[in-house]
Amino acid sequence: MSTSTGFDIRRIGGRIGAEILGVDLSADLDPVLVTEINAALLQHKALVFRGQSLDDAAQLRFAALFGELTTAHPTVPSVDGQPNILPVDGDEGIRANHWHTDVTFVRTPPKVSTLRGIVVPPYGGNTLIANSAAAYRDLPEPLRELADKLWAVHTNDYDYAAPKSERAAEHRKQFVSRKYRTAHPVVRVHPETGERGLFIGGFAQTIVGLGPSESRDLLRIFQSYVTRPENIVRVAWTPGDLVLFDNRITQHYAPDDYGDLPRLLHRVTVAGDAPVGVDGTQSRVIDGDEASHYTPAAA
Ligand code: SIN
Repeated sequence: MSTSTGFDIRRIGGRIGAEILGVDLSADLDPVLVTEINAALLQHKALVFRGQSLDDAAQLRFAALFGELTTAHPTVPSVDGQPNILPVDGDEGIRANHWHTDVTFVRTPPKVSTLRGIVVPPYGGNTLIANSAAAYRDLPEPLRELADKLWAVHTNDYDYAAPKSERAAEHRKQFVSRKYRTAHPVVRVHPETGERGLFIGGFAQTIVGLGPSESRDLLRIFQSYVTRPENIVRVAWTPGDLVLFDNRITQHYAPDDYGDLPRLLHRVTVAGDAPVGVDGTQSRVIDGDEASHYTPAAA
């Protein structure tokens, strides 16, 4: 499909994902073109721009077209001298091989995330992105009605699997150096489209009002709809690629299947608002600071 500003949208998944062809993200982008990219993002939820040659400054400029940037992360240090860029470096033990939506342990998680492939392994090291609105629609009606009423507590401090290396252990320590707990609706209404999506993922650890075992069982059932193969697109990286995804209505997972091969992405995220549930109620902090977009990362 071609847009009025002349770029092409090629779908790469049945329910999520499209490649955008014919846009050089390092150029000054016309506001109409940005509006069309945003429309494509709302529809396809994850957009892949192949073969770009962006540096950090160009990635920051592109991400900022979608709103105010967050700092790199509430607890993990940024790239040196780049407070808004998070290094996703396999060598540093950063392997996001759990389904999650970025930074949902704070009250206002990012609206969109950009990932830029700098060093990518010759095989493996893909990023899987899931459509959580399709997952919501797939739920049988009684489960949908139940999900609509539930809230989940998201935290960065939970019983992670044992880290596989010293670097991974160090990263984990940094990750939980400040602790956050936030209650979010299990079903989030997308602020731009009104679409409903399951807003859970790895940081969602308990359901408000339920004990740990009922919480685990219910979250497992809801999560199993998010991770259905039908609802996922798999992005195989080549250096220079930029992926833009809507963090309000997706989850992602980076398989740890590339051994010791180097893999480095830079992540820049755009500040989001507080999620709103189907009854119009907004997310609330339970423990920890507000971390609004965020306060400076701990040293
Ligand atoms: C992330 O969770 O932001 C990183 C995803 C990836 O490593 O592909």
